[in-house]
Amino acid sequence: MSEIAGDMNNAPDAGRRRFLTIAATSAVGAGIAGTTVVALVESLEPTAAETAAASTTFNLAPVEPGMQVTIPWQKKPVIIVNRTPEMLATLPEAEKKGILKDPNCTVPQQPPYCKNMYRARKPEWLVMVRICNHLCCIPHYRPKKASVTAWWLGGFHCPCHGSMYDLSGRVIKGSPAPHNMTIPEYHYSPDGKSVTITKMYPKAHLC
Ligand code: FES
Repeated sequence: MSEIAGDMNNAPDAGRRRFLTIAATSAVGAGIAGTTVVALVESLEPTAAETAAASTTFNLAPVEPGMQVTIPWQKKPVIIVNRTPEMLATLPEAEKKGILKDPNCTVPQQPPYCKNMYRARKPEWLVMVRICNHLCCIPHYRPKKASVTAWWLGGFHCPCHGSMYDLSGRVIKGSPAPHNMTIPEYHYSPDGKSVTITKMYPKAHLC
């Protein structure tokens, strides 16, 4: 997983290189301080091309209820799950049983529009970075009840140190992972048939 962790630093480095290039150019060619300041501030924003390159659009049509697909995004695995009503019903059940560390998603591991029980824009679709925030392993998808423990309601199980998450990626008490898994920023196409993952939520902790 070192490759994944290393990738987190690429974008800031690229931005910094551009920052330094423009700073040097401005120092040589510009005598107007205001021009230099504007150039430096603008250089910190991603260009349209960089934003487009960082985004991934995925067609949801082939993902039937109950299915998951894991796609690469910025060298990270992103899981997309089409949750059935039965799967969604396990989420309040986990809350009632009191087994979750952060049931209300108070730690900003997701954008504000996903700060809900589903950790999603639409209840049925989970879009999540599939990385355990203990030590960056990739948890197994275990949707069936009792498939990990007798009380298991369905969710994600990390094979290395045993962290457990529910079907919204909320971490279960007793797991070494401290937080819920990370939800990236994303939006749907106007017809709702595809999802575009745009960037990591800046406040989220990956691992
Ligand atoms: S990386 Fe998942 S439990 Fe350690």
